[in-house]
Amino acid sequence: MNVLVVGGAGYIGSHCVRQAAAAGHVVAVLDDLSYGHAESVPAGVKLYRADMGDQAAVRAALRETRAEVVIDFAAFTNVGESVQRPERYHENNVVRTEGLLQSMLAEGVKKLVFSSTCATYGVPERMPMTEDLPQQPINPYGATKLAVERRLRELAGSHGLSFAAFRYFNAAGASPDGAIGEDHSPETHLIPLAIAAALGRRPPLKVFGTDYPTPDGTCLRDYVHVDDLSRAHLDVLPKLAQPGQALFYNLGTGAPYSVKEVIASVARILGRPVPHELAERREGDPPALYADAAKVRRELGWVPRYDTLDSIVLTACHWHLARPKGFAS
Ligand SMILES: NC(=O)c1ccc[n+]([C@@H]2O[C@H](COP(=O)([O-])OP(=O)(O)OC[C@H]3O[C@@H](n4cnc5c(N)ncnc54)[C@H](O)[C@@H]3O)[C@@H](O)[C@H]2O)c1
Repeated sequence: MNVLVVGGAGYIGSHCVRQAAAAGHVVAVLDDLSYGHAESVPAGVKLYRADMGDQAAVRAALRETRAEVVIDFAAFTNVGESVQRPERYHENNVVRTEGLLQSMLAEGVKKLVFSSTCATYGVPERMPMTEDLPQQPINPYGATKLAVERRLRELAGSHGLSFAAFRYFNAAGASPDGAIGEDHSPETHLIPLAIAAALGRRPPLKVFGTDYPTPDGTCLRDYVHVDDLSRAHLDVLPKLAQPGQALFYNLGTGAPYSVKEVIASVARILGRPVPHELAERREGDPPALYADAAKVRRELGWVPRYDTLDSIVLTACHWHLARPKGFAS
């Protein structure tokens, strides 16, 4: 298919672009490079540097590429910042996404794969998390994603938009050949922070909360390899052939790991300790978040190929060792 990947110069998007091209799709990227890296876009893939809310630019890109489907990764993603500056998140993640949707409808592009998040659930009432749990986000970032999910559902009914919204758990790891990987600034994700602390590139890691009702007292999260995550976006495309499809999937492995287990994994793989300090709980961190991935496994036949924490952390270590300054290296 002709695929326009919006936010395709970012962490997850760039992995999806490579996979889509390898699978034989004709791929182009639209990204404003507010957080993405032009270097992550492979040679031969056209990069449109534009804001997804710029309807003239997006419509031109859709026309030029004869896009049949949009895969949309573009968003601001820093939960903490969203609490400080909610209007910035609303403007980008909701208003500009609406601009993208209007451009798609105007150009007759009615298939979309959208990056949502387990943060739309807030503090879930049970584990593992199924798609039918109530969605009550506890931060503006999660609220923006939920707002888009609801809008997509409306457009499926009113305009025949066919979409899949994937609610990701914690994306992690890097491409196994070390060519691309995670390079966020600022970095807020545990695995790259732990690796940087072990390599002496950052101060000791802070472990927020050691008295949670979990086996070792630290938070449990569901880490899913970025290539496994990306593959689901391609697996779902045949399901969008019918107009008006509204599909929601949790995307995690279903295997929870604690902060202490992540630290131990990084230390094991790098062969050096991860300096860390124990700190108070952080407001808004639920003790455990992990997926019931039965639906995506059943309906898409999706099976994570990286099924242990060590296998994910290994690819991340490989990337961070090879590229000490990320794409700027
Ligand atoms: N990383 C995770 O663990 C995780 C978890 C849940 C959900 N998500 C979602 O997955 C998506 C990708 O996350 P990521 O970690 O790759 O983030 P990222 O910041 O690396 O990538 C996002 C990309 O979107 C681009 N972008 C942002 N606003 C834009 C706009 N208005 N117009 C054009 N481009 C724009 C950025 O430049 C960047 O390249 C996001 O929507 C995020 O909310 C990520």
